Amino acid sequence: MNVMVIGGGGREHAIIKKLKENKDISVIYALPGNGGMKDDAVLVPIGATELDKICDFATKNKIDFAVVAPDDPLVLGLVDRLNEIGIKCFGPKKDAAIIEGSKAFSKNLMKKYNIPTAKYETFDNLEDAIKYLDNEKAPIVIKADGLALGKGVIIAKTIEEAKEAVVDMMQNGKFGKSGNTVVIEEFLEGPEVSVLAFTDGKVVVPMVSSMDHKRALDGDNGLNTGGMGTIAPNPYYTPEIAKICQETIFEPTINAMNKENRTFKGCLYFGLMITKDGPKVIEYNCRFGDPETQVVLPLMESDLFTVMQKTENGTLTKEDVKFSNENACCIIMASKGYPEKYDKGFEITVDDGLNGELYVAGAKLEGDKLLTNGGRVLGLTTKGKTLGEAIHKGYKEIEKIHFHNAFYRKDIGQKAMKVTEKN
Ligand code: AMP
Ligand code: GLY
Repeated sequence: MNVMVIGGGGREHAIIKKLKENKDISVIYALPGNGGMKDDAVLVPIGATELDKICDFATKNKIDFAVVAPDDPLVLGLVDRLNEIGIKCFGPKKDAAIIEGSKAFSKNLMKKYNIPTAKYETFDNLEDAIKYLDNEKAPIVIKADGLALGKGVIIAKTIEEAKEAVVDMMQNGKFGKSGNTVVIEEFLEGPEVSVLAFTDGKVVVPMVSSMDHKRALDGDNGLNTGGMGTIAPNPYYTPEIAKICQETIFEPTINAMNKENRTFKGCLYFGLMITKDGPKVIEYNCRFGDPETQVVLPLMESDLFTVMQKTENGTLTKEDVKFSNENACCIIMASKGYPEKYDKGFEITVDDGLNGELYVAGAKLEGDKLLTNGGRVLGLTTKGKTLGEAIHKGYKEIEKIHFHNAFYRKDIGQKAMKVTEKN
């Protein structure tokens, strides 16, 4: 079988490495992939949002199955386009990807179907938004409606700050069209949990839970990033919480999407907050998370390609998806200055005998050298019987990876360790 994976980051590298375990796959193409994946996939220099070129490539190269990993091609309707030319895909169609593509849509869905989430109002008029804020208390959360590279969420500490954020989005076009509509929502408190789930539109099968570390610096300081590291499983996600989530969030969401004639097939990402009133949805993503995937897939014992095919053809069962009882830790190595300004083009070297999975995100090949080419450069995943063991291994092994201006957080998993020690 010929498989293509759309996207080019660490998440896609983790997907590709896991797909390689399936012996029915003869070739995996990565569009565009990155230089760090050259031993795992055939790199094709076509961008993830170049829909016409992707379809053309798929036809010419007799692709049997496509995995569409990033949000933007899903929201743009790449799965619909590929289906039209007879290519099976893992990933939701455009009308279901809107669950991530529009926060106003997802918030309204949750309200309509009683799925627990923060209280909110949606505005497409600046004056109304400002008037509403006059009667609210800070902290309060302002969200741009559309995709904004994970940056469209402002936690305002004062009402003044909230008003500035609304003006920035609605009047100054800070996030382009994504900010024409804003959601203003209640500030929730509690630990966050990421749960990725396979769903064929009938059953929803959660994968092992995980915890992201979104801030750039130790102690959750610094700017918000795409994610600086992850651990799995997330100790806040107890079996009791998992049962509540399955019954009050996961299944109701799948049923709601069916009722709206927007059946969701693929990986649905639930960003949850465990509040004192129970688990609530912070956000939905229509895809695997990055860097959650880099800890979740290494713990998956079942064959990923089989599960993806069953998700696509509507025959998924709970028994198809098995995870080991181990723990995993992923430490992201980034370029100094990320998520703001950083330099690129430094050689990446790895000492012999690296004991862990290396997932490359921002790198390119120049001759036989691998050079840094992005903010988040790579992730290293290590596993252990305990979380402590996985973390310890990670920090020992990462010393074997080098590039100029590299930085990484030194405290990935420490918050989770405190919870595990308490139990
Ligand atoms: P999102 O882009 O929706 O994942 O939001 C980014 C981050 O903002 C989340 O991971 C949370 O830490 C935080 N956040 C979003 N919504 C809320 C909320 N209603 N209350 C508190 N924190 C929030
Ligand atoms: N790690 C969060 C995301 O993928 O959106």
